[in-house]
Amino acid sequence: MSNQTNSGLDLVLLGAPGSGKGTQAKQLSQQLELQHVATGDLFRENLKNNTELGQLAKTFMDKGELVPDDVTQKMVKERLSRPDISNGFILDGFPRTLPQAEALTEILKGLDRKLKGVLYINVSDEEIVQRLSGRLICRSCQTPFHLEFNPPAKEGECDSCGGELYQRDDDNPKTVHNRLDTYHKQTSPLINYYKTMGVLAEIKGEGDMDAITDEMMKVVRKL
Ligand code: AP5
Ligand code: MG
Repeated sequence: MSNQTNSGLDLVLLGAPGSGKGTQAKQLSQQLELQHVATGDLFRENLKNNTELGQLAKTFMDKGELVPDDVTQKMVKERLSRPDISNGFILDGFPRTLPQAEALTEILKGLDRKLKGVLYINVSDEEIVQRLSGRLICRSCQTPFHLEFNPPAKEGECDSCGGELYQRDDDNPKTVHNRLDTYHKQTSPLINYYKTMGVLAEIKGEGDMDAITDEMMKVVRKL
């Protein structure tokens, strides 16, 4: 796809923890040649590099709570101001609160851009608990796998880059429960918010992963 066609395809993936945001963003960003910007990945990257931001984020992530809006918004603003997003981007995990959604509108306005679509991936809580208990993540490129639903070709090794697979600290039953609770209280109101703005598309997020990608691509092509 040419740069011209992709110009300004600014997308948000909205969904509960474990709904498949990372899995689908990986596919969509490759097919559409867009940058995948995941706030959770950015926090984990900071933690790996032992930055102050990473240390701060960890205190919230470990409890299944949200990192404060001002800190998160600043990080996103900096990321979206880089030239590599000129074709568009797939935001995964941001916004997660109404103030963050308002901040995103302002950030984009400042860059003379506008949100094209919000893809809401709908998955039941029961399925999410199953998914997160068996998830493995690549330490290098963050690609998610699942022991049962999407196993890597070689045990413990990433199919994309050969990196080491590990289980995220926050994928334990107690933190998953808190993350779901946080999602329902603070993030799910964004579904109606974006519906009212006329940019929301709902995707059924259960079943075959490739079929879900195809469904999302159909929606994106119509934007
Ligand atoms: P983040 O890293 O964004 O975690 P999350 O929202 O909890 O989402 P996940 O990454 O767990 O799930 P996912 O939707 O990406 O699913 P995945 O594709 O991996 O955030 C972590 C923390 O950072 C937050 O708790 C918070 O503290 C902080 N944070 C981040 N953003 C923030 C913000 N904006 N504001 C404040 N704080 C913020 O899939 C899950 C599993 O299911 C995988 O194993 C996968 O293989 C499998 N799977 C995927 N699709 C399917 C399918 N169709 N069928 C079967 N299995 C599937
Ligand atoms: Mg993710």
